[in-house]
Amino acid sequence: MKNLKFFGVVLFSLFLVCGNMYGQKISAIEQNKKLGRGVNIIGYDKELWKDYTTGRFKAKYFAMIKEAGFSNIRINLHPFSHMDSEFKINPEWLKTLDWAVKNGLDAGLMVILDLHEFNAMAADPVAKKEMFLSVWKQLAPRYKDQSANLVFEVLNEPNRLLTPEMWNSFLVDAVSIIRSTNPDRTLIIGPGNWNGIETLPTLRLPEQDKNIIVTVHFYHPMKFTHQGAPWSKDNANLSGITWTGTKEEKELIDKRLKVAADWSKVNNRPIFLGEFGSYDKADMESRARYTSYVARTAEKLGFSWAYWQFDSDFIVYDIDKEQWVTPILNALTDRKIK
Ligand code: BGC
Repeated sequence: MKNLKFFGVVLFSLFLVCGNMYGQKISAIEQNKKLGRGVNIIGYDKELWKDYTTGRFKAKYFAMIKEAGFSNIRINLHPFSHMDSEFKINPEWLKTLDWAVKNGLDAGLMVILDLHEFNAMAADPVAKKEMFLSVWKQLAPRYKDQSANLVFEVLNEPNRLLTPEMWNSFLVDAVSIIRSTNPDRTLIIGPGNWNGIETLPTLRLPEQDKNIIVTVHFYHPMKFTHQGAPWSKDNANLSGITWTGTKEEKELIDKRLKVAADWSKVNNRPIFLGEFGSYDKADMESRARYTSYVARTAEKLGFSWAYWQFDSDFIVYDIDKEQWVTPILNALTDRKIK
């Protein structure tokens, strides 16, 4: 009798495991838990996108990222300049992407394909719409058989001329293209105005599609996170602004992130904080303190996250020195923080 019971339990467990692997609906909430802590990678590694053997980012970094305590990588994709006049993506570029997807998944990471053509889309959304949809027409079938650990993020930071209203209609078209080959793939979609938390109420997602995680970005206060950043007009000439963790500084973060958490509850969609961090010009102690506070607050609210970014600027890893930027890594992974 005991044996029979045991056999029954084993059979039932097998049924559950197989059910999850084959055809059972994947829950966005579970997927978001699996995303956990992550980092943005290779968006600005120009050489790598021509030939992955000559880029700055090396194959060994995937496992290193995992070992350091991260569970997702958000791969920032700029395919537009690698497409021909019929919008066919260059095979060399795709080879790099295949390499990154395979290595990321093999390292046990959740892999997010983030279409990062936000500038081109914001400057002329109507003219660029076909190009945008063509990317998903090619990437979705290419990766349709990959495990559920691969996630598609439809478009980074829609902004300017790609208004929140227009974005609502673009995203429906992109989702329907993706769903024709990837009915069960988890998608990430964020609101207009740079994935701003305040714009969440304007976001219209396909109601029936529950396998969607909603993303927001957070760089407040901009005068601290973007001080000295040449592309940030209002903050390019600022320097010496600290983040000491005063009550007011913390409250600003708490309040804004809570807006996303409240929206998430009401709308029953989990939240991925896809970008946060501070430009390298601020003092390191402030940066570490700030990074830690945003990451912990996001976690308390149940968000997954990805730090901006591994290499290039805002770095958490110094490729030239081949070493982690320890204060930022510690802040992110909650190791000893002052
Ligand atoms: C952009 C980067 C920029 C970062 C912070 C990202 O979405 O791709 O170019 O450095 O935001 O401003």
